[in-house]
Amino acid sequence: FQKNTQSKLLTGQHWLITAGPTREAIDPVRYISNHSSGKMGYAIAQAAVNAGATVTLVSGPVTLSTPSGVNRINVSSAENMHQQVMTQVENTDVFIACAAVADYKIAEVSAQKIKKSAETMQINLVKNPDIVADVAALANKPFTVGFAAETQDIEHYAKDKLKRKNLDLIAANDVAKNGQGFNSDNNALTVFSYNKKFELPLASKSDVAQQLVALIAQQRDEKQ
Ligand code: CTP
Ligand code: CA
Repeated sequence: FQKNTQSKLLTGQHWLITAGPTREAIDPVRYISNHSSGKMGYAIAQAAVNAGATVTLVSGPVTLSTPSGVNRINVSSAENMHQQVMTQVENTDVFIACAAVADYKIAEVSAQKIKKSAETMQINLVKNPDIVADVAALANKPFTVGFAAETQDIEHYAKDKLKRKNLDLIAANDVAKNGQGFNSDNNALTVFSYNKKFELPLASKSDVAQQLVALIAQQRDEKQ
């Protein structure tokens, strides 16, 4: 039910979304990364545009085409993604961190291809910036939504991230369950606020995205 039948639910709002994995270079031919198809983030971007929002999608490398009407910015490393998000975040109403950001980057990226020699080798890693936590720490913080892909103790870890990163909502999914999560076309989410829990049961990522967008809009209205 829309109050104003002339405009859509999110008309006039700017939503910023991260999606996909990041890549951390080891040398000119190798990188470390995370599993992430980008499908969930892209489905959210599409659902937000359909609901009338202006949407910017900061995307790591994925094989998906850009949803129609979405402004897509391509990035590779977590540092690239962080930089683009911090540049774009001004005047953003809702920020959704859907990307599977690499937690660590290579301490010293080799300028030349590393040659195979010893039986074992070590690579030193250093922590990447936490993009969603940095957005949530802004004085002019948008309504901030994180994701938590977990394999155990989902509620405990999701709520811990909600509080630790000062998020407004966190959408948790059990990536150990069959038929949801990585590269799947379906997903199920449990969304936590500080004092509420919402279940979005297993459905296509497109359906789940529509429900999540509606939930975010409603929770943001309640907060304001
Ligand atoms: N995130 C981010 N920047 C990072 C790491 C994570 O913006 N450098 C975001 C993710 O996009 C997600 C949320 O933080 O929305 C939670 O990511 P997750 O990897 O589950 O949390 P971490 O704090 O990295 O904890 P861990 O990997 O140890 O579970
Ligand atoms: Ca992580």
